[in-house]
Amino acid sequence: MHVLIINGSPRIKKNSNTDKILEKFTDGLCENGTTFEQYEVSDRKQWNDIRNAFNKNDNIIIALPLFVECIPGLLIEFLETLTPKNDDTKLGFILQSGFAEGIQLRCGEAYLEILAEKLGCIYTGTLVKGNNFSIRLTTGAQQEKITLPYKEMGREYAVTADFNSEKCRNFTGPEVFPAPVRFLVGGLFKTFAKKNFIKSAESWGCTKPLDYRPYQ
Ligand SMILES: Cc1cc2nc3c(=O)[nH]c(=O)nc-3n(C[C@H](O)[C@H](O)[C@H](O)COP(=O)(O)O)c2cc1C
Repeated sequence: MHVLIINGSPRIKKNSNTDKILEKFTDGLCENGTTFEQYEVSDRKQWNDIRNAFNKNDNIIIALPLFVECIPGLLIEFLETLTPKNDDTKLGFILQSGFAEGIQLRCGEAYLEILAEKLGCIYTGTLVKGNNFSIRLTTGAQQEKITLPYKEMGREYAVTADFNSEKCRNFTGPEVFPAPVRFLVGGLFKTFAKKNFIKSAESWGCTKPLDYRPYQ
């Protein structure tokens, strides 16, 4: 099997968490002879090549970060330049995010299922996982702790050519945190994190409160 992988993050490859995830995913994917080619939507010079690859390939994965609970605008802009295929092309997604709870990615996941149909492809599921904020802020073993599990998902995809297995569905982790954890995280955001957000905003020259609503 040959797989076309498109990194849909607007961040350049060097800074993209999606890219670090794909490094591990493709390690697992290729263990038994599957091959892949990868492109970056962040590099507009590649858009013609990605379009050609999209037209030519019949196993496609788009990997993307969740941006404001949905898909990045740059990726939408690119996707709008594609011509729907209406053939047997299989299209699946790796949807990853910063916050850890699975529930906040479900709206994006539902959108991606519709998107596959709009692009005239057969939907092969979405691998959904959060808790990835710190990938690019860490290195070595610390980074691997987050990215290495994707290697197993690459192995799984090489066998099933989709993300519908129980292993893939369980990969998401907790749908919502238990109540005490939500309470604690909520408290941290209202106190410690808020203080730091205000400090950062002030250091960037912001003079209005963070909840300022000039258009309300
Ligand atoms: C503009 C922006 C919006 C984001 N929105 C969300 C969000 O709604 N939920 C979430 O969990 N993470 C959100 N994140 C975090 C990213 O999904 C996360 O850091 C991801 O790993 C980034 O991947 P990338 O470096 O390949 O772009 C956002 C990040 C940015 C920069």
